[in-house]
Amino acid sequence: MKTGELYKDRETPVWDGAVVKGAETVNKIAGGELRKIPQVRLERLPERAFADWKTHGIKAFAADKRKNHGYGADEALKLSADSFSRCLPQGLATPDHYIFQVLNTQDQPVGTAWFAVQDDYGLRRAFIYDLEIVDRERRKGYGRATMMALEDEVRRRGIKTLGLHVFAFNKAAEQLYRWLGYKVTDLTMEKKL
Ligand SMILES: CC(C)(COP(=O)(O)OP(=O)(O)OC[C@H]1O[C@@H](n2cnc3c(N)ncnc32)[C@H](O)[C@@H]1OP(=O)(O)O)[C@@H](O)C(=O)NCCC(=O)NCCS
Repeated sequence: MKTGELYKDRETPVWDGAVVKGAETVNKIAGGELRKIPQVRLERLPERAFADWKTHGIKAFAADKRKNHGYGADEALKLSADSFSRCLPQGLATPDHYIFQVLNTQDQPVGTAWFAVQDDYGLRRAFIYDLEIVDRERRKGYGRATMMALEDEVRRRGIKTLGLHVFAFNKAAEQLYRWLGYKVTDLTMEKKL
């Protein structure tokens, strides 16, 4: 489903803003700012793309862990590979894990996204494990559009809370999530001694 279709019939404000119909884009006003949001479609990642996605994801997560905590290169890669294996023991068939490729209106892939549904002592919530827009397509609103489409995927499953984790250095992602209305629930702190 496209974000344009999702929002075209909404008359009530979304978050603190309003949604205005557009042909290729949805225009969202939040905090007094208008942003054009391109239409995207989420499609489950095909099996043939899984190995490349996982290899890329392991490297990217390892690089983030190194940058954030100072792990050695090999250790970061091992940590990252272990984490992927733990989270996705059955690959794409792992229950409650949903991995998508993000397609634009020309059906070109512009990114990928991964969330899981978790039962946490009576609280049923979803958690975003990964979101990435390909380099050349960044700063065009696809991150926003993908997040809004993911939120609809989560809502469709009757889940009312969506969480995520951001490394402190990742100001781009932090800004994106704050703009969408995400609030900080925990802070992990560290000091070099
Ligand atoms: C974070 C990421 C998903 C953003 O995707 P994007 O398509 O470039 O984001 P958008 O164009 O929708 O930008 C939405 C808002 O995010 C913020 N933002 C995005 N990139 C930014 C950057 N490089 N610097 C500062 N703010 C940025 C801005 O507030 C932006 O709004 P604006 O363009 O109106 O100023 C993308 O940079 C990415 O894939 N990064 C690598 C992977 C990653 O860090 N994933 C998130 C893990 S938590």
